[in-house]
Amino acid sequence: MIPEASPKSPFQMSTKQIDSLVVDAMLNQQTDNVFFKDRESRFVRVSRGLVQHFGVQSAEELLGKTDFDFFADEHAREAYEDEQHVIATGQPMPPKIEREVWPNRADNWVSTTKLPWRDESGEIVGIFGISRDITREHLLKLELERKTELLENSNRELEQFAFIASHDLQEPIRMIAGFVQLIERRYNDVLDERGREYIRFVVEGSSRMQALINGLLQYSRVKTKTSDLEPIDCSLVLADVVRNLQVLIKETDAQMDIENDLPVVLGVRSQISQVFQNLLNNAIKFRRKDVPPLITVSVKHEGDHSIVCVADNGIGIAPKYQNRIFGMFQRLHTREQYAGNGIGLAMTKRIMIHHGGNISLESEVDEGARFYLKFPRTEANDESYT
Ligand SMILES: Nc1ncnc2c1ncn2[C@@H]1O[C@H](COP(=O)(O)OP(=O)(O)OP(=O)(O)O)[C@@H](O)[C@H]1O
Ligand SMILES: [Mg+2]
Repeated sequence: MIPEASPKSPFQMSTKQIDSLVVDAMLNQQTDNVFFKDRESRFVRVSRGLVQHFGVQSAEELLGKTDFDFFADEHAREAYEDEQHVIATGQPMPPKIEREVWPNRADNWVSTTKLPWRDESGEIVGIFGISRDITREHLLKLELERKTELLENSNRELEQFAFIASHDLQEPIRMIAGFVQLIERRYNDVLDERGREYIRFVVEGSSRMQALINGLLQYSRVKTKTSDLEPIDCSLVLADVVRNLQVLIKETDAQMDIENDLPVVLGVRSQISQVFQNLLNNAIKFRRKDVPPLITVSVKHEGDHSIVCVADNGIGIAPKYQNRIFGMFQRLHTREQYAGNGIGLAMTKRIMIHHGGNISLESEVDEGARFYLKFPRTEANDESYT
C-alpha cells in the first residue's frame, strides 16, 4: 500500500512557496481590509475582511474589478488617483482617513495605507493596501469636535456679554453713587432721620454694586494666551503675596508653613499671584473664632501634574457646598458675618482652567479646608520627578 503523501514541512519548501503560503494564510484570516491591485487598480488578491466589507460572497467577485464598480464615482476617483501616485512615485501613501461613499448604503470611514507592490526585480507591479473601518471612532470624534466648537462659541459669547455688560454698567452706577453722595452731603440738614437712613442704603447698595461690577469685569478679562505664558516660580510669587498680607497676618496671629520647593509653572505672573492671594485671604478670613489661622502650603507631583495644596484650620465647608463656592457671587455667609463679594474663588477657578489646570477642594465643617491647585508639569520641575 502506498502511504498517503504527508504535507510538506515549510523547511522543505522554497522561500517563494513559503511566501505564497504566508500571504494565503494572512489574507484568508485577516479581518482587516487587505488588498493587492495591479497597475490599473484592479483587485488581484483580497483578504477575508475586504470580502465582508464589500458585502460580496467571495473574493472571486472582486478580482479584476476596480473601486469604480463599487463606490460612488468621486470616492473611487480619489482612491484611483492615490494609487496611481504610489505607482508613479514608488512612495507609500501614509495613513489617510477616507470617507467611503457607496451608491446604495450608508457611508463609512476607513483609515487606509497604500504601498507600492514590487516584483522580484523591483519593478512596481501594482499597490497593496491595508484599511481599517473606523466609522464609530470617527463619528464620535466629529461629534466631540462639533460639541467643543459649540461650547467654545457659547463661552466666547458669554465672556463678551459679561465684559460688555459690566463695562457699560460702570458708568451709570458711578453716576448714581456720585449723586447720592452729593445729596447726602448737601441736603443732610433738610432730610429727617429716615431720609438719611434711606440715602445711606442707596450709597451702600451702589458701592456694593460697583464692587460686583468691577469683579465681573475683572473676571471676564481673565484671558491667557499661550504667548503670555512664562515660567513662574510659585515659591517667589507666594513670598510676595505673604509680604502683601503682612498686616492681616500680624493682626490675626496667622502662622504660615510653606514647603520650600514649590513648582515652577507656565503662567501669567499677575494671575498666579491672584490665585494665592485669594486662597490665603480666604484661609485667614474664614478662621475659627479664637483659633489663630494655621496655613500650610505643600506640593506633590502626580504623573504630568504638580499639585499645590493650600490648607487651613478654619471653619471649613460642608461637602454639599463644595462645588457651589466656585461659582460667581456664591457665598455661604452674610456680609455681616464675613466681608466679601463671592468673586475670589470663581476667579481662581477661571485662572486655573486658563492655565490648563484646575482647582478642587476637600473639607468638612469645623475641620479646615484643603484647596488643591493642579498645574500641568513643566520641564523645569523634572529633577523633582518622583
Ligand atoms: N478657606 C475657606 N474656609 C471656609 N470657607 C471658605 C473658604 N474659602 C472660601 N470659603 C467659602 O466660599 C465662599 C466663596 O469664596 P470666595 O473667595 O469666592 O468669596 P469671598 O471670599 O466671600 O469674597 P471675595 O473673594 O470676593 O472677597 C466664601 O464666601 C466662603 O463661604
Ligand atoms: Mg475670597
